[in-house]
Amino acid sequence: QKLTVAIDGPSGSGKSSVSKEAARRLGAAYLDTGAMYRAVTWHALDAGTDLSDAAAVEAAVKAADLFISTDPDLELVTIHGTDVTQAIREPFVSEAVSAVATNLAARAELVSRQRAIINAHERIVAEGRDITTVVAPDANARILLTASEEARLRRRGLQLGGTQSAEALEAQVLARDAKDSTVVNFTVAADGVATVDSSDLDFEQTVTAVLAA
Ligand code: CDP
Repeated sequence: QKLTVAIDGPSGSGKSSVSKEAARRLGAAYLDTGAMYRAVTWHALDAGTDLSDAAAVEAAVKAADLFISTDPDLELVTIHGTDVTQAIREPFVSEAVSAVATNLAARAELVSRQRAIINAHERIVAEGRDITTVVAPDANARILLTASEEARLRRRGLQLGGTQSAEALEAQVLARDAKDSTVVNFTVAADGVATVDSSDLDFEQTVTAVLAA
């Protein structure tokens, strides 16, 4: 029968790699909602949208022809047929994404697309910032994956391969989390949501804890 696992957490909590591995072990699909926010942000920038114009941002998001792979072994995101899988991870997208994430009409559009994807799958693990609370509050399992600030920054540094200075990276990640948390609360678990703190867990231990939650 239908299985939906909802996982939320801040940047560097390990939620993407952990959610992907949980999906594999459950024989489930995988949805990275952050990649959707990044992809429509890439699209808005590509279209020359003024990100300070809320109506223009909303229009760009609604017009975005977005495809995202839900296969945990195939990372693929396209916008109007263009493969943006790598491009959406660039720092210029990370810096701009809050303009979309703090736009309530844009969020509503993405939430509705995310629900449609979740409904189309018998088994799915979906991860982001508002999956346990807004997108799929009725999920079979709801988990908030947290980690200390120190652990999160360390992981982000490893993930980006050290192309940015530690200070620049730290400032960027903290600024993005601060902006994000003005619209979505992902630091305190909502009622019925299990918290898994990964600060002192390795990858395998975190996956096990998530699958047990
Ligand atoms: O790189 P990181 O893991 O921190 O973030 P991500 O999962 O790739 O998401 C990128 C951005 O999308 C976040 O900083 C949020 O602004 C936004 N986002 C959101 O608002 N709601 C979600 N469900 C997922 C992501």
